[in-house]
Amino acid sequence: MRQKLAARLGENVPRYTSYPTAPHFHAGVDAVVYRGWLEALEGGDEISLYLHIPYCDRLCWFCACHTKQTRHYEPVAAYLRSLYAEIATVGGLVTGKGRVRAVHFGGGSPTMLEPEDIVALGSVLRNSFAFLPGAKISVEIEPNDMDDARLDALAEIGTTRASLGVQDFDPKVQKAINREQSFLQTKAVVDGVRSRGVESVNLDLLYGLPHQTRESVSSTVAQALTLEPDRIALFGYAHVPWFKKHQTMIDEAWLPGPAERFAQLQLAARAIVDQGYEAIGLDHFAKPGDALALAARAGTLHRNFQGYTDDCCETLIGLGPSSISQFRQGYAQNMPSTSEYRCTVDDGGLAAVRGIALSNDDRVRGWIIERLMCDFAFSAIDLVERFGEAGQRLLLQSSSMALHDPVRLLELDGDRFVVPAESRPFVRSIAARFDKYFETGTARHSAAV
Ligand SMILES: C[S@@+](CC[C@H](N)C(=O)[O-])C[C@H]1O[C@@H](n2cnc3c(N)ncnc32)[C@H](O)[C@@H]1O
Ligand code: SF4
Repeated sequence: MRQKLAARLGENVPRYTSYPTAPHFHAGVDAVVYRGWLEALEGGDEISLYLHIPYCDRLCWFCACHTKQTRHYEPVAAYLRSLYAEIATVGGLVTGKGRVRAVHFGGGSPTMLEPEDIVALGSVLRNSFAFLPGAKISVEIEPNDMDDARLDALAEIGTTRASLGVQDFDPKVQKAINREQSFLQTKAVVDGVRSRGVESVNLDLLYGLPHQTRESVSSTVAQALTLEPDRIALFGYAHVPWFKKHQTMIDEAWLPGPAERFAQLQLAARAIVDQGYEAIGLDHFAKPGDALALAARAGTLHRNFQGYTDDCCETLIGLGPSSISQFRQGYAQNMPSTSEYRCTVDDGGLAAVRGIALSNDDRVRGWIIERLMCDFAFSAIDLVERFGEAGQRLLLQSSSMALHDPVRLLELDGDRFVVPAESRPFVRSIAARFDKYFETGTARHSAAV
């Protein structure tokens, strides 16, 4: 059954961190539209902020993130001055209209910032936006960047969640991906953030990397589990060399094939669950008491550009080049080029250049896709109550999939459409069945599993 499904659903599909997905953004949403959406925020609105640091001091060959290698700090310092300008402009537009519930520093590597710049960035944000008491601050950490001064700086800005990139502990794999990182360094950082009061620690692990085998993945997972992370993100390596040229440094002959990838995923997932973690969505695991597990159980898990989140803010403001903002009206994305971004924001401009305004149909499909990705299920009653006639139309499509599709993609269980357990690894492909833009799109995506 699984093989049949894999054959049928082994297509390349989006990761659905938004709907419509980013390849369908267009220039109709520009800085003027973005400004209007920022100005339309209201007093009681809660905001999440995402800040992108598009630099690393070395480049990992597997990386698909929007980042650039720099051996000197001057470009980073100059970039920070521009980021402060953007923060001042956007903060000015939303003053009195919304308060910040969560901040996420991502990249690239936010931890390549000098400790005093980490602290300064935290202060600039708190001076430019109103923060809710207890706002969550999360940071992506490159463990090799870390020292005591950076750990102290993260504590000083009130970091509550830390996400460490691990990928794999096997030296042969690490060499092939240009990412050498010892277990001891990783452990020192986990201990360092915990001793400074960080509530939740996540580790990023990958399967499907060059030279990975079931044995090496199992061994990495076992080592990672000894660190007792609160969460684990287990991603399939996305090999997209047409999009990220440095991935051509990875010889495709070293990559595990689709069946081996699937086996690695299954084995790793089982080992993590056997240690008492709850499986969350497609690729996350959390201890039962962690906020992500609580949200999953309550049906309040969400999916945004950072992946699965318990953050329930309707408004996400992305700052920095390539960052995506999400409003009730739609999505807006900043220009990707750091130099163009700097020219624009240094003059007090807004950097949004593309996006999409949501139609009613987009909202219904987006809701179904988000629920499938988060809960592997959605309620027919909820669908119709929320979206009326537009919901009815999608209800017909869902019923037809549940009743007539020979491969079991959806089943009816009471009033709920449920993805059966054996089809769950292919939920991206099932979500794609509800994606109106998918058939016609020319975008290239990574493999579904
Ligand atoms: C911005 S990095 C994390 C922070 C820091 N730069 C680091 O590497 O430790 C985000 C994460 O995305 C994941 N990632 C990057 N490229 C990927 C790819 N090609 N396929 C799957 N996951 C990838 C990695 O697990 C990585 O830890
Ligand atoms: S994985 Fe992290 S450290 Fe490596 S290049 Fe990508 S963003 Fe930089």
